[in-house]
Amino acid sequence: MKILVVGQGGREHAICRALANDGATLVAAPGNPGIASHARCVAVKVDDVEGLVALARDERVDLVVPGPEAALVAGLADALQAANIPCCGPSRAAAQLEGSKAFMREIAYAAEVDSPIFRVVRRTDELATAMADMPGLPVVKADGLCAGKGVVLPDTREDCVAAARDYLGGSLGEAGRTVVLEERLAGVEASLFYACDGENLVALPHARDHKRIDDNDRGPNTGGMGAVSPNPVLDGRREQHVRDEIVLPVVRELKRRETPYVGFLYAGVMIAPTGEIKLLEFNARLGDPEAQAILPRLGRGELTRLCLATAAGKLADFKLVVDHRTTVAVVISAEGYPGEPRKGDPITVDPALATADRWLDHAGTRQDGDVLVTNGGRVAAVVASATTLREARARAYAGVDMVHFAGKHYRRDIAQGDT
Ligand code: AMP
Ligand code: GLY
Repeated sequence: MKILVVGQGGREHAICRALANDGATLVAAPGNPGIASHARCVAVKVDDVEGLVALARDERVDLVVPGPEAALVAGLADALQAANIPCCGPSRAAAQLEGSKAFMREIAYAAEVDSPIFRVVRRTDELATAMADMPGLPVVKADGLCAGKGVVLPDTREDCVAAARDYLGGSLGEAGRTVVLEERLAGVEASLFYACDGENLVALPHARDHKRIDDNDRGPNTGGMGAVSPNPVLDGRREQHVRDEIVLPVVRELKRRETPYVGFLYAGVMIAPTGEIKLLEFNARLGDPEAQAILPRLGRGELTRLCLATAAGKLADFKLVVDHRTTVAVVISAEGYPGEPRKGDPITVDPALATADRWLDHAGTRQDGDVLVTNGGRVAAVVASATTLREARARAYAGVDMVHFAGKHYRRDIAQGDT
């Protein structure tokens, strides 16, 4: 089995680690120094659709697994389909669930999924009416992809209007030319992950992310500073509800519109204090760092089997084998992140870090001759697995102490308060 994995972050290192453990031969584009210990890395960029299709063809891979949304929104899955190469990722049209927030809300509305009240605004003269329809101060979102920068939760009406005008005026380029106003929901957020073959869903283990840069959820938002799987706030009843009442209706609506969703699907929901669950977002991929915590919990051989069955439309009777251990991933970031990170600091890793129950997933690292150096905001994640959450957390943090570089930052409370 030969598989091309597209991407270069911690999520893709976790995907490669799992697929290599299954026994697959791997090619990665472009990969990173950690991925290089499982895969042959080829310098093709994640949004270079033609380059990726040519690589998949030249390497005669049996399957392509795209990690980031950029490749999918650029049409990678469509181009692979035209070349007859199986792909575990959605078409460009279906990836609009992540690529356009207005599209996502309209599909969810048509599918009668519990959602915040929303209005789509395309011109500044539509703003006043849309604002008047909102039950309170809304969340203001740019429609398109903008690397986590397109959502604001303003504290005053003036800030709402200013943010919306800013986006509509082009401050985020095309991504903000359409704006979505959404009722602001309160509660606890949860992320759930599925493999979808266009029609059937297989739930992956769930995870809890920690989005702020500092302890106790302080400081600016990041891509995610750590994750724990399973997520302590989810139980079987809530899981079932999200699957049957939120995700399946959306998947059915996409199929009805002849743009079936194939690949990993990430659903973000808000659980209100009353227990009511509403849809916050969909992403056309696995989460990062959630994947680092989730994938080690799949049984040996399961990720390969799941990706192949997803791409082939054969999930109807699929039973995923999951390990009941807890996994904790603690992200180590560079100075400056989530702003402009400092790069090029030499990294040393104590060889005692790597054991059967603990390892390092690389993200922003680069090999500079013999020296491993920092090369991005989120540098790496220490991942540890154990029978209890307490043990997994202690094991992960002992590993964090074995990674050294100037400007090293991490949260000390990942998976805390979850026991
Ligand atoms: P999104 O990119 O749409 O997921 O938004 C990013 C983050 O903003 C989410 O993870 C939430 O923390 C917050 N958020 C988004 N939409 C809402 C909403 N309607 N109500 C409250 N918080 C929200
Ligand atoms: N960790 C959140 C995300 O991947 O979007």
